[in-house]
Amino acid sequence: MLPVLSNPGLLITSLTVVMSLISPAAGASVHSRTEDKSCGSGMYKSPPRHFGFLLPRAFSVLDVFGPLEVFQALARQTKLDLSMLSRTMDPAKTETIHAAMNRFNSSFFPQVVVTHTYADKPPIDVLVVPGGAAARSPDLGPELEYIRKAFPKLKYLITICTGAGIAAQSGVMDGYRATTNKQAWKQMTAMGPKVKWVSPARWVEDGKVWSSSGVTAGIDLALEFIRQKYENGTAIAEAISGAIEHTPILDWREDPWAAKFNVTPQN
Ligand SMILES: *[C@@H]1O[C@H](CO)[C@@H](O)[C@H](O)[C@H]1NC(C)=O
Ligand SMILES: *[C@@H]1O[C@H](CO)[C@@H](O)[C@H](O)[C@H]1NC(C)=O
Repeated sequence: MLPVLSNPGLLITSLTVVMSLISPAAGASVHSRTEDKSCGSGMYKSPPRHFGFLLPRAFSVLDVFGPLEVFQALARQTKLDLSMLSRTMDPAKTETIHAAMNRFNSSFFPQVVVTHTYADKPPIDVLVVPGGAAARSPDLGPELEYIRKAFPKLKYLITICTGAGIAAQSGVMDGYRATTNKQAWKQMTAMGPKVKWVSPARWVEDGKVWSSSGVTAGIDLALEFIRQKYENGTAIAEAISGAIEHTPILDWREDPWAAKFNVTPQN
């Protein structure tokens, strides 16, 4: 059930990384590491297996495909299932419906194949909510309703970038510690006055709610999620970082963008 992009360039990029991940070198480095043994295997008996990605209109491409790249690599090491969720089975679009937000009438917006509608309610363990222009949309009713209904049954909610603003509007993040994109900080935090917003933070984990800072921070969150939740996670995360040639930020407090965008340290 791989998502299929209408933009072949992106698909080829993804496949290239996948091919590199199934090379023997990556596998060898996963199995040669032993430091996770000390954690015992008890907590890994029922790791999250079914991921759902919410695809609101005008989602940010990398908010979805950054974590998706990382978790897809994990799916080569353990059994995982994926649902790409939207309102209807029509391809999910990154293009906004507002012409004013496309001044030059560009046609540069990939579409993603949807596998389930919100009404299908696939039994997901982890819901990933991306941001993008979507987060500023006044028309998020079906997304907010879906998040609200799905949340009690989730093992984890993961928000990427301004996806925190979307999830916060649904109310499910009330009382949780969370972070979001620092450039959009004022606008997003206002969407969840009862959320304990945290800065500086590359990502924040608070029980079942995990949230990342801007766009690329979603990759660091996904790698940390693997380190913590899957057997041999540290070795697997390191192998994935190497395969995608990403230098991960390992300290959740390391966040150069908080100062850059004058976000007052809090929580
Ligand atoms: C974890 O690593 C150990 C050896 O380092 C290996 O025996 C075991 O099969 C690995 N488990 C998984 C789930 O990859
Ligand atoms: C925008 O571009 C599309 C083709 O991509 C064209 O059909 C349409 O007429 C253009 N609209 C304007 C207002 O130029």
